[in-house]
Amino acid sequence: MNQEDKTPYVVTSKSYTAVAINAASKAGEWIKSRLGTVKQLNTKSAVSDLVTEVDKGTEQMIRKLIFTHFPDHALLGEEGVEPGPEASTKALAKVAEEEYLWIVDPIDGTTNFVHGFPFFSVSIALAHKGEVIVGVIYDPSRDEMFVAEKGKGAYVHGKRMSVSEEASLEQSLLATGFPVGRDSTLPVNMAGLAHLAPKVRNIRSGGSAALHLAYVAAGRLTGFWEIGLNAWDIAAGALMVTESGGQITDTAGNPYTLAVRHVAATNGAVHAELVQALKEASATGLEGK
Ligand code: IPD
Ligand code: CA
Ligand code: CA
Repeated sequence: MNQEDKTPYVVTSKSYTAVAINAASKAGEWIKSRLGTVKQLNTKSAVSDLVTEVDKGTEQMIRKLIFTHFPDHALLGEEGVEPGPEASTKALAKVAEEEYLWIVDPIDGTTNFVHGFPFFSVSIALAHKGEVIVGVIYDPSRDEMFVAEKGKGAYVHGKRMSVSEEASLEQSLLATGFPVGRDSTLPVNMAGLAHLAPKVRNIRSGGSAALHLAYVAAGRLTGFWEIGLNAWDIAAGALMVTESGGQITDTAGNPYTLAVRHVAATNGAVHAELVQALKEASATGLEGK
């Protein structure tokens, strides 16, 4: 480096996707090595809303890895935002206009991580002017790296993914999640669950929204819905689902944007039926808005 040049050396030649994969893979290995070692278990908005020193450390690690290559980009990470829907909506609004925005959930499925239930993931997305162009979700327990690039498809184990072929809810395996808000979002979700359970083949709730979306993309689930999520739970998986031939909207069927919190993602074939069922049950989370 030139003596007068005080700018730190920046590696810029790597592709966005390569950086995302590298960060997710390093973060995932670190998380796996810390399974069963959590020392400090803190709660955020509710007793069911857990955060550990591993969540925070992992986000730091991902930030460093991304900024080494792209110091001018913006980053929205779960651990940098106060808990609660208002704070996350505000935090997203602040960076939504950025040309390049990385959206990071260091551990999606912290409750599972804490309990040693092997279903959690690292989720990293890159949005260009508000549109997701790269999505990476890594499941360290199974060493599965799900990767999507806008216009180039989505892959797992280097193999192109495509959504499943079920044509009706009756044949569908769906997943949902139980959101943190016990008094607000949970009753709405229970109404949706009660209405949908008799209509579908079965319902799962694995505890990682990002992995559920990756599973829809991989054709392992027909669809997924959940209310009360945040941009970092959904962004990477949203691109994965569309690049695999599926559909993602809000729970009322409106187009997906980074601001969507109540999400429905399917193989496309059952999308209208799922959205209709959620409306019938007043379970879109958007009622009265
Ligand atoms: C949670 C997981 C879970 C979903 C919750 C999310 P976190 O994320 O995605 O599956 O049901 O709504 O908050 O807190 O483990 O990153
Ligand atoms: Ca999450
Ligand atoms: Ca998280």
